[in-house]
Amino acid sequence: MGSSLLSPASMGVFLLSLIILLCLLPRIAFAKDSGITRHYKFDIKLQNVTRLCHTKSIVTVNGQFPGPRIVAREGDRLLIKVVNHVPNNISIHWHGVRQLQSGWADGPAYVTQCPIQTGQSYVYNFTIVGQRGTLLWHAHISWLRSTLYGPLVILPKRNVSYPFAKPYKEVPIIFGEWWNADPEAVISQALQMGGGPNVSDAYTINGLPGPLYNCSAKDTFKLKVKPGKTYLLRFINAALNDELFFSIANHTLTVVEADAVYVKPFETKTLLITPGQTTNVLLKTKPHFPKATFLMTARPYATGLGTFDNTTVAGILEYELPSNNSTISHSAGSIKKLPLFRPTLPPLNDTSFAANFTKKLRSLATSQFPANVPEKVDERFFFTVGLGSSPCPQNQTCQGPNGTKFAASVNNVSFALPMTALLQAHFFGQSNGVYTPDFPSTPIFPFNYTGTPPNNTKVSNGTKVVVLNFNTSVELVMQDTSILGAESHPLHLHGFNFFIVGQGFGNYDPNKDPAKFNLVDPVERNTVGVPAGGWVAIRFLADNPGVWFMHCHLEVHTSWGLKMAWIVLDGKLPNQKLLPPPADLPKC
Ligand code: C2O
Repeated sequence: MGSSLLSPASMGVFLLSLIILLCLLPRIAFAKDSGITRHYKFDIKLQNVTRLCHTKSIVTVNGQFPGPRIVAREGDRLLIKVVNHVPNNISIHWHGVRQLQSGWADGPAYVTQCPIQTGQSYVYNFTIVGQRGTLLWHAHISWLRSTLYGPLVILPKRNVSYPFAKPYKEVPIIFGEWWNADPEAVISQALQMGGGPNVSDAYTINGLPGPLYNCSAKDTFKLKVKPGKTYLLRFINAALNDELFFSIANHTLTVVEADAVYVKPFETKTLLITPGQTTNVLLKTKPHFPKATFLMTARPYATGLGTFDNTTVAGILEYELPSNNSTISHSAGSIKKLPLFRPTLPPLNDTSFAANFTKKLRSLATSQFPANVPEKVDERFFFTVGLGSSPCPQNQTCQGPNGTKFAASVNNVSFALPMTALLQAHFFGQSNGVYTPDFPSTPIFPFNYTGTPPNNTKVSNGTKVVVLNFNTSVELVMQDTSILGAESHPLHLHGFNFFIVGQGFGNYDPNKDPAKFNLVDPVERNTVGVPAGGWVAIRFLADNPGVWFMHCHLEVHTSWGLKMAWIVLDGKLPNQKLLPPPADLPKC
């Protein structure tokens, strides 16, 4: 009958161009979205550094202490070549980076890689997907992170703004812990003798102990500010063994982000930050030159029975002198004559402050920054975390509890690192003799976890893992034990962010407590303090194939065995599979 508008030929051309256009569209969108590749080189080398009048040779990145700052944008790829020029084995972890399909770049030694040996190198290759904020990098072998650490700053994509007014300046503030002795000798001696390791000699802010320590007035971090401005302070706790309170005299902080996830802003005078946690805050400076300087101090939140470094690190918040104000002075030297205010920090064991502070942290839960809390749960786990003991070897005297050795465990399993990397064993199907997939999902012998401690405090040893299918939604309750004293444990999960849906004191009650869970706007992070004498419930979606370490970020507890690993199997789609290892993956 009638004529068609298009001839079959032109119809074909039209269809073909439509197909080409449709194929290109996502790529165009992707190209606009995807970032650039950034190259960094980490030369691991020894460097003489002096603190507290002690000079010693420390392991550094590029001779810097703290190490260099890594800056990237969301969507960027990072290629970081680490070259080991020191006698120690080295591995570096990009703490909090999700490592989607790139588990080989995660870094924990004997978990995702064998360490980089002397004279060898390894290129960490990963892309930052769906994350922006402050994280950190640190060595992930033995106690080397005492000197090998630095900030990892992820800026939003180009032309994307923060969910708060653009700050005038951004300043990373990284806490560390300094030993006059060699921290490697400290932990190896402690593990040998079974007692608690010697505590650090100082805390540091950006590597500097500050005026409250001997010989350190010149080694003081100064934050120089202008009046009437807003500063974004990126706090990182890279200390080994201590959760820290922090405050600035006569100033209020507005918390806006935790572990590289935005939170509902709230004001506080004091921060609590565990090792492995990061917190971004806005500091609004006073509208006019205040004719005073202000100390900022940090000292521990300490709950355990053992000794700890009970010292205080201080830095100075210094307002720039108004240039035209002759009544104050012409010389900058006069700042020294200004009154100096010092903040007050909560008592050392203020567990109720800790509980209230964590409760204030809430996800934004907006359409742009949703809180994708798993609503249904596929698998439930209940892990006890805490200290215990191991028998003292014959013909030795041990310095741990009742002549034993200190140990620590998850569900009474004190985790032993294998001689090769778990991820390799998993990927190549060679788990035999490396690990077993039988990590207990609940304690084998339940007891009153926070009551009178049991007589038998002995842990078992093993390299046990939990195996999860791809996309399993997990609920994990972590319960502190009072076996050798109730103690707060900052638990860190690699490869995921999780939502903190509930917390409480005493023993978790599976019948009553879930009713109180927050599934609407719980905070999303990678490290959570399990309350001293209490429990915390987290949820995450196992959407990242690989082997993922989970451990207490108090390094001494990790050394004692408070660690375990999750294996997440591949999914069916190509983008649900762990990619093969890079050619330069270190060998054991
Ligand atoms: Cu920040 Cu497994 O560590």
